[in-house]
Amino acid sequence: MAGNVTFTMIKPGAVKKNYVGAILKMINEAGFVIRAMKLTRMSGTQAASFYEVHQGKPFYDELVKFMSSGPIVAAILEKENAIADYRELIGATNPDNAAEGTVRKMFACSVTQNAVHGADSDENAKREADFFFSTFERFYD
Ligand code: CMP
Repeated sequence: MAGNVTFTMIKPGAVKKNYVGAILKMINEAGFVIRAMKLTRMSGTQAASFYEVHQGKPFYDELVKFMSSGPIVAAILEKENAIADYRELIGATNPDNAAEGTVRKMFACSVTQNAVHGADSDENAKREADFFFSTFERFYD
């Protein structure tokens, strides 16, 4: 349903620090339903492709290197108003600017290592979900 699905990744730093369970708890308690999920690792080429919209920006190379440095958790989440509500739950991109109680305020350590990614539009949520998941890996009621 348009507007009710978002895509997220728990980034390598947060996976390495064993924050997956705590972050998923926050996601569930905020009312999101997990429709697809996997622990996987992107190659450098895959991370470059996933973030190609940022190609040429000063942080791109560091972002690609970090995002391919270890396993991530990718997930499709469903909730009414999913894109906006999820971005509110995770907080500002730079954890220094993230509100108290948000995922990034609690678990991020820098703007690159900012604990989680969240899609910023319906179009990108679809593209990002399709990047990781086949139709057989998605489970809707
Ligand atoms: P994410 O939600 O994964 O989407 C793009 C990522 O680029 C973002 O989180 C940050 O990790 C990173 N990013 C965005 N802006 C900057 C910036 N100004 N400096 C460094 N990294 C950035």
